[in-house]
Amino acid sequence: MTDKTLAADARPTNPTYPEGMVTVIDHPMVQHKLTILRDEKTGPKQFRELVKELAIFEGYEATRHFQLESVTVKTPIRETTAYTLKGRKVAIVPILRAGLGMVEGILELIPAARVGHVGLYRDPETHQPVEYYCKLPEDIGAREVLIVDPMLATGGSASAAIEFLKAEGVSSESIRLLVILAAPEGIQAVVETDPQVHIYTCAIDERLDDHAYIVPGLGDAGDRIFGTK
Ligand code: PRP
Ligand code: URA
Repeated sequence: MTDKTLAADARPTNPTYPEGMVTVIDHPMVQHKLTILRDEKTGPKQFRELVKELAIFEGYEATRHFQLESVTVKTPIRETTAYTLKGRKVAIVPILRAGLGMVEGILELIPAARVGHVGLYRDPETHQPVEYYCKLPEDIGAREVLIVDPMLATGGSASAAIEFLKAEGVSSESIRLLVILAAPEGIQAVVETDPQVHIYTCAIDERLDDHAYIVPGLGDAGDRIFGTK
């Protein structure tokens, strides 16, 4: 029998993209859940649950840089110094529709976050993003922004969302892009759009196919979340 156990150093790792700007979340729980997500036999109910759970792990990593300030708190035992978050508030920006599947998970981590929506779909022929909706919090320019979308394929949708946010006054350093799967082509496109946007993904797959789907990927994320095919 073949031993399928991966040594810790055989798990997916960060390949060579701009220093520190692409984080592959190689946690064993994440990789296990991602495998079930990829499986064509996984139905919409479990698919949605897994997308939400993976979003929680991604949110955990993507908020690691948040600043803290010390405060005094009185426990039932005595007074002590402890820490609370300081700094800018958060906005979650899902790219419709599949990005909606990640919002609930991030809101569990950051319940006070505001949610903006960017509606984009890929033209099936050209694979270019087409905008159909955009509604962002009024103070978006003063917030840390987490763009969420399970798939980074050509990178056209993510790049368009980044450009919308920057046009609304959000600085590059305040934008983080959280995806579940990325193609190398998509990462490249985002880096070309803005090398200061940090990308978080559970895996970087091999490539895109002729229809600009990620290979091996997980199929059409929106259709699998909403059961539309
Ligand atoms: C998918 C996905 C991304 C986009 C990625 O959305 O959720 O938004 O494709 O592809 P790209 O990197 O080549 O732009 P889709 O356009 O299928 O719309 P949907 O979420 O409504 O299904
Ligand atoms: N959008 C998806 O949902 N899946 C892909 O593989 C590429 C784009």
